[in-house]
Amino acid sequence: MGETDARFQVDELKRQAAAAAVSLVESGMVVGLGAGSTARMALELLARRLHRGELRDVRGVPCAEQVAADARRLGIPLTTLEEHPTIDLTIDGADEVDPQARLIKGGGGALLREKIVAQATRREVIIVDETKLSPVLGTRWALPVEVLPFGWRTHLAFLQELGATPTLRTQEDGMPFRTDQGNYILDCAFGPIQEPEALAQALEGRAGVVEHGLFLDLVTDLIVATQAGLEHRMV
Ligand code: A5P
Repeated sequence: MGETDARFQVDELKRQAAAAAVSLVESGMVVGLGAGSTARMALELLARRLHRGELRDVRGVPCAEQVAADARRLGIPLTTLEEHPTIDLTIDGADEVDPQARLIKGGGGALLREKIVAQATRREVIIVDETKLSPVLGTRWALPVEVLPFGWRTHLAFLQELGATPTLRTQEDGMPFRTDQGNYILDCAFGPIQEPEALAQALEGRAGVVEHGLFLDLVTDLIVATQAGLEHRMV
């Protein structure tokens, strides 16, 4: 199979997972709008259901400035966590998913807002295609760690001691990538992470580390689109 065909197939799986998640949205809900290409498909399908009149009075809480702009363009009404501190249902993607539905997120750099939204959500629906499944987190993806620009280099040795090879995420022009909060991302290649809870704790205890991409106990629904069909697992 050519690369384009393979990409097309993966996109089709993402679309199926997105459609399954959007079918869970009901009128009147406050919905968390995740970032990334899979969540973007859900955004389009949600807009379609709203425009067809299948849903009314749905408001979205975007996890990134880009998502907010996309949602506005698609005509999805937005609200904030200040107005609605509890979200009914969030639809978001992931970069890597282990058998216990623990995740690595942050490939798009939106991990902090995604985690705040997930924490505030009653039903956190994660949508992935089968290529995201992994036996052990860290096998397929470097862990994004968001740090304050102040003193960012001081974290490199700390992260190396934890077992990572950290790389400052940059843009195409070579300048550091900035999150929506203006922070930097260190992409930390750990290889298989045997004890994600212990790693999360170590990272959370470090001043200057704002957030990390381990989502360990936040998922309620995992929807995986595979060539053999859709799997919807309640976690
Ligand atoms: C954004 O920061 C991420 O957490 C995304 O949810 C994740 O990167 C998945 O993106 P794709 O759906 O594009 O693979």
